Amino acid sequence: MDKAKRKAIIAGNWKMNKTPSEAKALLSEIAPLVRDADCEIIACVPYVDLAAALEATAGTNIKIGAENCHWAESGAFTGEISTGMLREIGAEYVVLGHSERRQYFGETDETVNKRTKAALAAGLKPIVCVGELLWERECNITEEVIARQIKLDLWRVSEEELKNVVIAYEPVWAIGTGKTATADQAEEVCAFIRAQLVKLYNQSAADAVTIQYGGSMNDGNADELLSKTNVDGGLIGGASLVATKFAAIVKAASK
Ligand code: 13P
Repeated sequence: MDKAKRKAIIAGNWKMNKTPSEAKALLSEIAPLVRDADCEIIACVPYVDLAAALEATAGTNIKIGAENCHWAESGAFTGEISTGMLREIGAEYVVLGHSERRQYFGETDETVNKRTKAALAAGLKPIVCVGELLWERECNITEEVIARQIKLDLWRVSEEELKNVVIAYEPVWAIGTGKTATADQAEEVCAFIRAQLVKLYNQSAADAVTIQYGGSMNDGNADELLSKTNVDGGLIGGASLVATKFAAIVKAASK
């Protein structure tokens, strides 16, 4: 399957930015700029912004996602949010295993897998993030790290469920640093991820998976990154908070 047949997806990951009223204002600014886009557009926003974001994007081509979810249906997990809560409010996507969750909040491949399974069972579409640390790249173990993450994070995810999974390759050293992976580096790892999916599933299942690149993607470098065969979209942090920049990336993905 060639790239043109895969769904190009540009997703904003807002992280801990924007209050509900600010979310509404930003999405109202983005919506008219991306109306004619030929790719899927998602804004993954803080939990408390979900209602405002859904209201602001009703009737538009922008879909809304959360930035995490718990694996249990309910229970004594103070501060957590369940997949059922996200479904009921109307979220369609959820970012899982982001490197900031792994680095600062003790996320492991085991918990990423549990969240991924729970999200899929609830009908949410997970954007599963993988990526190597700078030190791991320097030690030349990027492929081992990525292979392990892909295998563990998708453990017992069926071929049918894989159709609803998006994978984001986010080299940790490129996140929020202004240091982007070169288009060739991004392509190399995204192609490697697809090869792992062929091993774990099969060629046609792997060919259908949207693999995004994330890490200082912006309006200046999106064109080149997105021109690569295995880079099917982007997971955008900083630039997703500026309407014109985000819209320019969406435009690059629409070509
Ligand atoms: P930046 O685009 O700010 O580097 O963040 C990338 C990211 O972490 C998206 O999830």
